[in-house]
Parts: sequence; C-alpha cells; structure tokens
Amino acid sequence: MRKIKIFDTTLRDGEQSPGCSMNLSEKIVMARQLEKLGVDIIEAGFAIASPMDFKSVQTISGAVSNCTVASLARLNKLDIDTAWDAVKDAAKPRIHVFIATSDLHMQYKLRMTREQVLNAINELVAYAKSKCSDIEFSAEDASRSDREFLVKCFSAAIAAGATTINVPDTVGYSTPQEMSELITYLREHVEGIEGVDISVHCHNDLGMGVANSLACVKAGATQIECTVNGIGERAGNASLEEIAMTLKTRRDFYDAETDINTREIYKSCRLLSNITGVPISPTKPIVGANAFAHEAGIHQHGVIANSQTYEIMNPDDIGLPHRALVLGKHSGKHALRERLELMGYEIPDDELEDIFVRFKKLADQKKTITSSDLEALTLHRSRIVRPEESSASTCQLISHSITSGSGIPKISYVKLMRDNKFLEGVESGAGPLDAAFKAINKMLGIEARLEEFSVRAVTEGEDSIGEAYVKISSASSGEMYTGSGISTDIVEASLQAYLSGVNKMFEAGE
Ligand code: KIV
Ligand code: ZN
Repeated sequence: MRKIKIFDTTLRDGEQSPGCSMNLSEKIVMARQLEKLGVDIIEAGFAIASPMDFKSVQTISGAVSNCTVASLARLNKLDIDTAWDAVKDAAKPRIHVFIATSDLHMQYKLRMTREQVLNAINELVAYAKSKCSDIEFSAEDASRSDREFLVKCFSAAIAAGATTINVPDTVGYSTPQEMSELITYLREHVEGIEGVDISVHCHNDLGMGVANSLACVKAGATQIECTVNGIGERAGNASLEEIAMTLKTRRDFYDAETDINTREIYKSCRLLSNITGVPISPTKPIVGANAFAHEAGIHQHGVIANSQTYEIMNPDDIGLPHRALVLGKHSGKHALRERLELMGYEIPDDELEDIFVRFKKLADQKKTITSSDLEALTLHRSRIVRPEESSASTCQLISHSITSGSGIPKISYVKLMRDNKFLEGVESGAGPLDAAFKAINKMLGIEARLEEFSVRAVTEGEDSIGEAYVKISSASSGEMYTGSGISTDIVEASLQAYLSGVNKMFEAGE
C-alpha cells in the first residue's frame, strides 16, 4: 500500500478565497485541528504577504509538532528569507518556493524569458536549500506549460536541492487523463524524480480538482495538496475530505492510503465553516447535511435492511455525531463532558465551565439539547475574542430591547460593557438590527459597515438555536472582520455576532 502525503493549504490557498480570511487565533485553532486530523504538511501562510501572515506562520510553527509547517515564497531572496524566519522554529520546517513556467505567465506576468526562469530556479532553489533541508518547488501553471521546458525546470529544481516537486493545475483547466499523462511523462523524463516526492495541486474551476488529484495518484504522485471543504482561489482547491474518503473507500482501486484520521473529518469541516461563516452546501460530498440522509422511502427501507444498499461509507468513519437527543436541563457537568468527548471534543476544564454555563442557559430555553446544539456551543466558543485572552479592550452585550412593527419606527436600545464600564445607546434605523448596529457604532465611536449577514437554525424545531454570521468592514482601514453569535433569540445572536466582529477589529489594533 503506497502512502500518500496530505499537504493541507487551507490556511494559505484556502484563506485567499473571498470570505475565508481568518484571524490569528482562528488560524491556530484550525492548525491544531489539522494536526489532529493527521495531515502531513500544513501550509501555514505566505510569510512575506503581510506582518500578520508572517506572525501566523511563525505562531503555527510553534503550535504544532507532528506536522511539517510550510511557508510559501516566490523565487526571490527576500521571500525565501522571510519564509525561513517564519518557519525556522517549527519541529519540521519546509520552504515552498514557486515560479510560473507557462509561456503565458512568463511573458505577461513575470516578464521573464525561459532562460531567466531556469536561471532563477538554479540559483534560488539552491539558496532556499542553504537555509532549510525540506524544499518544495512548484511550477505555477504547470499543466499549461511546455512539457520539455517543464522537465528542464523540475530537473534543475531537484539538482538544486528540492525534495518535493509540485505540479499545479493552477487554473483548473486540465482533465484527469491529461493530468495522469503529465505525471507519467514527468516520471519518465525528469532527472532525479525517483528520489523526491511528486505533488499535485489541482484547482476546481471545472469541478475536477479531486478527480484530477486522484488520477495523479494512480499515475504515481505521492503528495496531494488540498483544503478542508475545498476552499481556495475562485472555485477552490481539491477537497481534503473527498480525497481522504475516496482513498479509504476505494482502497481496492487506488492501492494507496493516507494518515488522515477520518473520524476527525466532520469536526474539521464544521470548525472551518464555523470560523469562516461560509456554510457547507447540503449536497457537499462527505460532509453536507444530505450526505448520509435518505429521503426516498425505498432508500430508507434498503438502508434499514442493510446500510450498504445505499451507503458506501459508514457515517462513524467521518465522525458524524449521532443526532439522537442527548441532554436535558438536569444534566450535570460530568454528563456534558462525557457527551462532548463522545462527539470527539476534548475540552480543557476552564473552557468546559464556560460551555456549561451557556449549556444551562440554553437548557432553560430549550427542552432538549441535541448534539447539534452542543456542537454549536462548542464551535462558537473557539471564535469569541475573550477579554482575558485579548490585549485590546473587548466589549460584551449586557442587554438589548427592540421596538419594531409595520408602520412604526424601528428603535433599538443596547447596553454594553467595556473596560468594566456600562455603555447605553438608543438609535432608530431601517430595521431593528440596523438601529442596534448603529447604536453600537455610536457608543464605541467606530465606523463599522455591515457587508454580509445571515442567520440559520442549527436544529429543527421552533426552539432551535439561531446561528448568526456577520461580515463587517472598517471604514478607516477597509479591512473585513467576520463574527458569529448563537442564541435562541435571533436578535441577540445577531448582536453577539456583530460584537464578535467588532472585538476582532479591536484585537487587530483598530
Ligand atoms: O495554484 C497554484 O499554482 C498555487 C501555487 C503557488 C502552488 O497555489
Ligand atoms: Zn493554488
């Protein structure tokens, strides 16, 4: 059985996708989860891109120990130096250098000739190697590059010290057959290829990211680059959970395996969705709400008789929590901890205390607490900027009330606490939330604009928790911040979400 390395780029390529940006603490929470998931390499960011990116890569390098931590770098000395500074304290550091090799990119983007690109590879891969023993070299737009030239580029990179060569289908243009033929061709022609890992990085513009990656595995690739929930530039990258579950389910066909602990898949996908506020489509393979739901009577009958009639995977294998009723108002902390552990969450004592307080509050409002409710309470916890963990002064919602209805003014009153002081404000607006957000802006003296807003019910039933997401922009910096809040009262959930976005703005130094 061949081992396929999983190179996760959720925190780099994934984070580049619209609406998926994460702050430092969210990236650390995600990196720790990726380590639990068992990925081999975490691409933690593009260290040169901004001081914040540098800090994220550096902090993640110190926060994980089993995975290799990589930083992306263009093929120039400053990028390479910065990438190395950011990863050098990782247990297993990697520098990932790239340069475009297609004529189109070289001519119009880089304004470099083939010869200049080859010289850069010779000189700068060797420079990166002088700093770090683990070097990945990517030929951007490889799938649209001239094959003979590509062979020269990869051969040069290997001669200069690259230990992994990556073959990106940067614009998601290739088909599985073409990618497979390309890998075969490279294996036949690139000098030294037998001594390095062959990686693929397939974008999903035509919906073939996963199929292309798997075709490359069949052709001999040993590493796949992918992201949780398939997030990434444009239509995204190949999805990690689809790749891991295909290799597990069709082991007979691929004769290859990964070290992914598939029971952590569901949790990882939900965590990312919760962090970014980007929902998982119900029909998303593996982790969509419908992936294991059988609606048609004939299917239900078949599944009850023998689950294999319509289920090719066992829901337990992805760590899908059982949706049965789990806890009630009289359940204690011990029972809560047990349930959370059963769902795969190991919660430190201080955090459990906090979840327990919110669990009790919820149990007063809702007859039964299901695993979806517990999941919302737990995941939401990882997104809040808490006063004790923040260098900025954060604010909390104390109370609110709204007046709304047809033909009457929409007025909101909001009471907050910041720096142990109470603040109160009343405003009117187009609707009660518009009024409440205006009141918050005025009290805090900020100019935050609501860019996106959504509320969804976490479970069925009238007493379901509402989960609100906001994306706000700061008028002074133009930066975007996401926030989320949960409550059985959707106005309260929305205000919590708005304040969690505002707190992130403060945390970022605004
Ligand atoms: O899509 C791409 O080509 C990339 C490279 C930087 C690997 O993301
Ligand atoms: Zn990419």
